[in-house]
Amino acid sequence: MVKENIARIIEEGKEAFALATEEMVFAELEKKYLGRKSDLSDILKGLKDLSPEEKREAGPLANEGRLVLERAAEEARTRIASFKLASEEHIDITVPGRKPAVGHLHPITRLTHEVEDIFSTLGFSVVGGQEVETEFYNFDALNIPSDHPARDMQDTFWIDSEGLDSQYVLRTHTSSVQVRYMEAHTPPFRIVIPGRAFRNEATDASHEHTYHQFECLMVDERGKVTVAHFKHIAEMFFREFFGRDVKVRLRPSFFPFTEPSFEFDISCILCDAKGCPVCKQSGWLEIGGAGMIHQKVFEKAGYDAGKYQGFAWGFGLTRLAMMKYGVTDIRLFMDGDIRFIRQF
Ligand code: PHE
Repeated sequence: MVKENIARIIEEGKEAFALATEEMVFAELEKKYLGRKSDLSDILKGLKDLSPEEKREAGPLANEGRLVLERAAEEARTRIASFKLASEEHIDITVPGRKPAVGHLHPITRLTHEVEDIFSTLGFSVVGGQEVETEFYNFDALNIPSDHPARDMQDTFWIDSEGLDSQYVLRTHTSSVQVRYMEAHTPPFRIVIPGRAFRNEATDASHEHTYHQFECLMVDERGKVTVAHFKHIAEMFFREFFGRDVKVRLRPSFFPFTEPSFEFDISCILCDAKGCPVCKQSGWLEIGGAGMIHQKVFEKAGYDAGKYQGFAWGFGLTRLAMMKYGVTDIRLFMDGDIRFIRQF
C-alpha cells in the first residue's frame, strides 16, 4: 500500500511540475509536494508505525522520490524564470528596424567612376598624375612659354620652390599629364586622366578654385586619328553619360597645345535644346576644350616630328555633375556640407 502511494505521489508531482508555467502555481506545488506538510513527509513520518519489512521497502523509495521531485521542481523553477525574462523583454516585431549609418561615395567620385567605366568600354585606359606639378609640364611642355599671354588664361597657384630642382605649381589643368605620359609611352594609345585641378581665382556660383577635370587623349600614326574620331567618341560618351542622344558642336578656339583647337558644346540636356536659364536660352552648354595635339607638344615628349597625330580633350567633371543633377552653384560640391552630399 505504502509503496503504491509513494509511486503515485511521485508521478503526480512530476507531471504537475512539468506543466507549471507560473510562479504562483509553482509555489503551491512546492508546498504540496516538498513542504513540511506534504503527503510525502507524512509517509516518512509514519514509517515508524510500519512493520520492519514495509519500512525497509518504503524508506529508500520515499527518499528517492523526494530527490526526483526536487529535481522536477528545479527544472520548473528555471523554466518559469526564463519565461518571465522573455515576457519582460517584450519584443515588438512590428517596429521598423534601425538602419545602421553607412557612408557613401561623394557624387564627384561616383561620376568619376562612371566616366572611367564609359571610356573603358571604348578602349581607353585610366591614367593618374600628380597635383603638384612642375612649371615645365603644366606650361612649357604644352607650348606655353613664360612670356606667352596664354599663361594669363589660367590664374595659377605658384608654390614657393626656393632650393628645389624646379619651380612647382598646383596644376591648372590635367593637360599637365600629357607630356609626362608621352615621355614614357609610344603611340598608339588611348587614355583618360581624371583628377583635380586648381585655379587661383575669385569663386562664385560657376567658378571654384579646386575642381575636377577629365583629360582624354587618343594618339596614333599620322592620318589614323582625326577630328571625326574625336567628335564620334565625344558623342558616344555623352550619349552613355546622359542616357540619351546628345548633339556635339565644335567652335573654333585657341589653345597653345592644340592645332586646330575647339571649344565644344553639347545640346542642352536640361531643356532639350529649347532654351532655358542654364544654357542662357542658347540651347547649348559649353563643356570644354579640345583639338588636335600640336606637333610642338609631341616634340617636347621626344617623338619624331610629324610622325604622330591625335586629339586631346579636356572637360570639367564638376560642370558635368552640375548638369546631370541640376545643381546651380559649383561651390556646393566641395564645401563639405553633409546635408548637400547626402542628397546623392
Ligand atoms: N586644358 C584645357 C583647359 O583646362 C582644356 C583642353 C584640354 C583644351 C585638351 C584642349 C585640349 O582649359
